[in-house]
Amino acid sequence: MSTLTTSEVLRRTGGKSIKAVAYDAETIARRVEELGADITAAYPDGDLLVLGLLKGSFIFLGDLVRHIARPLQVDFLVASSYGADMVSSGNVRLLYDPETDLSGKHIVLVEDIIDTGKTLQRLMAVLAGREPKSIAICALLDKKLAPEPPPELRFVGFNAPPAFLVGYGLDHAENYRHLPFIAALE
Ligand code: IMP
Ligand code: MG
Repeated sequence: MSTLTTSEVLRRTGGKSIKAVAYDAETIARRVEELGADITAAYPDGDLLVLGLLKGSFIFLGDLVRHIARPLQVDFLVASSYGADMVSSGNVRLLYDPETDLSGKHIVLVEDIIDTGKTLQRLMAVLAGREPKSIAICALLDKKLAPEPPPELRFVGFNAPPAFLVGYGLDHAENYRHLPFIAALE
């Protein structure tokens, strides 16, 4: 998709202005294709389950799996987020558990953005108990605010600026997920 004009952006946001486009659609597409190739190369054999953390990963996961050139399965899990708040509370609840059996499979957990890393820390503990063959994290964006990066963090799209970002799946109070680019919010 070519770069949107200001009026096309405002049409999509309902007239609310966004501060700056951090990653345009072409930049995202190129990087997601590379991540797909990296994941293909990293798993020469074994069963692969790509597990998307909803809702934020829905667009990223859809694009990513189409660039993974090997057999795989897709499932999702839902953890509670921090709603309209722009600050992570560190409280994570599993609202939907994947139906697929994880045991003996390579798991790639797909996340939109890592902020403090608390969401993933909690989820990894839950998933590790299901005896997968391996677990890796694939995050489109990493704010690098986690005190220590999780050792499973293998695939990262971009090191994100310390701003609140929306679009390409990322929301603020459930808005802006549909934007084809990623932008910083006012
Ligand atoms: P963490 O547990 O602090 O790492 O927070 C990660 C989760 O918070 C992500 O899955 C996002 O849903 C949300 N989040 C963190 N930063 C942002 C942001 O800049 N924009 C939108 N959502 C964010
Ligand atoms: Mg979220």
